[in-house]
Amino acid sequence: MPDISSLEAHAAHVEHALQQLLATKRGAVPERLWDAMGYSLLAGGKRIRPALILECYRACGGTDFEAVMPAAMSIESMHTYSLIHDDLPCMDDDDLRRGMATCHRQFDEATAILAADALQALSFELLADLQYSAETRIELVRYLAIAAGAQGMAGGQMLDMEAEADGVKGVLEVERIHLHKTGELLRYCCEAGALLAGSSPEQLKACSRYGKAVGLLFQIADDILDATATSDELGKSAGKDRAQNKATYVSQVGLEKARELAEEMRDIALEACASLGSEGRQLQALAHYIYGRNR
Ligand code: IPE
Ligand code: IPE
Ligand code: MG
Ligand code: MG
Ligand code: MG
Repeated sequence: MPDISSLEAHAAHVEHALQQLLATKRGAVPERLWDAMGYSLLAGGKRIRPALILECYRACGGTDFEAVMPAAMSIESMHTYSLIHDDLPCMDDDDLRRGMATCHRQFDEATAILAADALQALSFELLADLQYSAETRIELVRYLAIAAGAQGMAGGQMLDMEAEADGVKGVLEVERIHLHKTGELLRYCCEAGALLAGSSPEQLKACSRYGKAVGLLFQIADDILDATATSDELGKSAGKDRAQNKATYVSQVGLEKARELAEEMRDIALEACASLGSEGRQLQALAHYIYGRNR
């Protein structure tokens, strides 16, 4: 079992910061919208994306974790928006998320869509408010917009929906879907951590390579878990990919080969972060954790 104490510490820190952030918005936004945003944002979750930002930041020499906390909150806000939309009846039609009823089930579809819209906007607001130079803030906003938009996550979700209807021809098409719908946001996290630390070009390159590998690894692991774990373990409905005819690594190459490919991605990630020296060792632990995770 990898040492994930830093993941747990970051998660607790981010959790607290998100609670405080939402408290500052109370009263300034419609109550029902605020309730729905908080319901999904504070429902738990592994908080892996913030950990990637914070550990890449550390690996590139960053030390002021308080100063980069808004970037960590920003990515969870973006990620939570993507989950709310992913669960909608017109998309994956899910009832369970993070161990609770999905946002549209708990509230209603219109409220869920609006809460997700608001979380996406909040994500950019948090980056714009960072105590960093205007140049760095614009760079981060631009990177995140690209990673979350049509060239990244939203584009990948489109490919995912099309593949559900039309099927895919082979594992390379699934790789393309996964790199977009999930991978780009994780790669963004790693690059953002590096940028916030004022990294060298070599460090940025290492984080980017690491991020691309863990991004794909993360979604292969998600596909494997959907096929092998229970809904109780996952806090979301298991076995849905097969039932919905989703294009996944498991559907394309089977469980055993999917595990081999996950291992390959883990090794690429380990190799990429090796060049970051001793401060990058938590990134090694994170790669092992993402590979071996059980939820
Ligand atoms: C689930 O992400 C959606 C995918 C991109 C696979 P996570 O597995 O990070 O979900 P939480 O944040 O822990 O709930
Ligand atoms: C989700 O992929 C990717 C997102 C952009 C949210 P999945 O549809 O496989 O995620 P889960 O399994 O519902 O969490
Ligand atoms: Mg989906
Ligand atoms: Mg889904
Ligand atoms: Mg899934």
